[in-house]
Amino acid sequence: MSGARVTIGPVTDVTLSSKNPTAVKAEALVVATAQTSDGVAVVSDQLPTDLLTQLESLAPQLGVTGARDEVRKIPAGPQLAAEVLVLTGLGERAEDGTFATETLRRAAGAATRELAGLKSAAIALPASDDDEITAVTEGALLGAYAFNRYRTGKDSAKDTKDAAKGAKNGKDPVAAIEILTPLHKNAKAKVAAERAQVVAAAVHAARDLVNTAPNDLYPATFADAAKAAAKDVRHVKVTVLDDKQLASGGYGGLTAVGQGSSRGPRLVKVAYTPAKPAAKVALVGKGITFDSGGISIKPAAGMEAMKSDMAGAAAVLSTVVAAAKLNLPVAVTGYLCLAENMPGGNAQRPADVITIYGGKTVEVLNTDAEGRIVMADGLVSAVEDGHDVVLDIATLTGAQMVALGNRTSAVMGTDDVRDEVKAAADASGELFWPMPLPEELKSNIKSKVADVANSGPRWGGMLNAGLFLQTFVGDHPWAHLDIAGPAFNDGGSHGYTSGGGTGVGVRTLLAFLEARATTAK
Ligand code: BES
Ligand code: MN
Ligand code: ZN
Repeated sequence: MSGARVTIGPVTDVTLSSKNPTAVKAEALVVATAQTSDGVAVVSDQLPTDLLTQLESLAPQLGVTGARDEVRKIPAGPQLAAEVLVLTGLGERAEDGTFATETLRRAAGAATRELAGLKSAAIALPASDDDEITAVTEGALLGAYAFNRYRTGKDSAKDTKDAAKGAKNGKDPVAAIEILTPLHKNAKAKVAAERAQVVAAAVHAARDLVNTAPNDLYPATFADAAKAAAKDVRHVKVTVLDDKQLASGGYGGLTAVGQGSSRGPRLVKVAYTPAKPAAKVALVGKGITFDSGGISIKPAAGMEAMKSDMAGAAAVLSTVVAAAKLNLPVAVTGYLCLAENMPGGNAQRPADVITIYGGKTVEVLNTDAEGRIVMADGLVSAVEDGHDVVLDIATLTGAQMVALGNRTSAVMGTDDVRDEVKAAADASGELFWPMPLPEELKSNIKSKVADVANSGPRWGGMLNAGLFLQTFVGDHPWAHLDIAGPAFNDGGSHGYTSGGGTGVGVRTLLAFLEARATTAK
């Protein structure tokens, strides 16, 4: 079956090296620029002074301002062994004279996005401590992403001939990068670079899943992808409940949302169990492989973006696998709540009353508020399994974007866990912002006939959804991450983020697990 295997694109090779940037023989040398009070500075203490002076004085003619997200390529000239010099902007220095690690991450990624098709590049950005090495390596790898699975190169008569010769449309990411750092032999620096490779691979795997077409990625094939991702990873076990097992097991949420599709729902548990775990964490992910809205059908315009409605489950799968690859001393179980929300003849109706796993009833007022229904089954199951803390992540509400735009995700939950997630996001460079779960809004999701209704008034839509989920976790330590906007970039590329799935959440969830590993509670 074509969809069972989710392809993994070419992987960029990384090495740390202490070569002088002038001497490194690569197709491209990446150097940073910054904005200063009197113009542009090239951020390097190793390039020849006359070259620096020349670049800085010609900056206006080259169109180089040092601004963030600005990348310029110029011939490297006789003083450099590289062929092309790539200038990537860092903006202004912070007051202490340094650059934020996320600024380095974005500048590295903005540069590697422009290096697709090349074989080799050297990156000479600030990399003089572990945090900088982490940021530069992660950013460079995150920018080196391409999703070319569906490009055959056969889209014109001429291309058909090229395709016969083996040419494909879409360039592969740069094949190999060298990160230039004085710490190239330092053990902690090497660990940082290796960790960055695991993190970037995890983010890319989540992006691949999101970008995969929904006719290829549906609950059954997503479950297969989970098994494939966990294969040969030590201490990871995948179990799958299929549509029949879900129905007989009382998972009324997944069953109800999935019943309008010919492709039945699945609940996939991905458990990583190290020998002596310092903590036990549950991650619950929304995995609607396509959200048509169901009978409360969505308008046609923009509906294609709803292939990304499984980004939460993709982030969870990637995070659990990465935690195992990093040997984190934390037990993590991912719950992937997988269903396709379609308006078939057997679809649930507005007015249906369903019973979630554990027995609470929900009046379905709007079949397009399906995410919270499948998540309710997953959350009850996670709480039942006895974890120290439960995190859930979902492309849950359009209201998330109204509140925070499409670059900042929201986090709600019990106060401590919510703040812990915000701190993890800050450490990882992802943008999250805390949101309240106001007691006063609980009346919004009151049902006239059942325990709770699945939708309420438009105002506070993100909070209504959060309050709905809260009903199913009670007072268990918990946080809910709404990534509706940031999960899918349907605008232009920026920093290390190209179009399509972004893999948002993976880095925050991993940072959360890493923090739990060191400060076991
Ligand atoms: N998957 C959507 C939320 C969404 C919208 C994610 C746009 C990403 C981009 C979710 O299932 C949904 O349809 N939510 C409704 C809820 C409403 C019917 C209460 C919404 O936000 O409009
Ligand atoms: Mn929906
Ligand atoms: Zn949805």
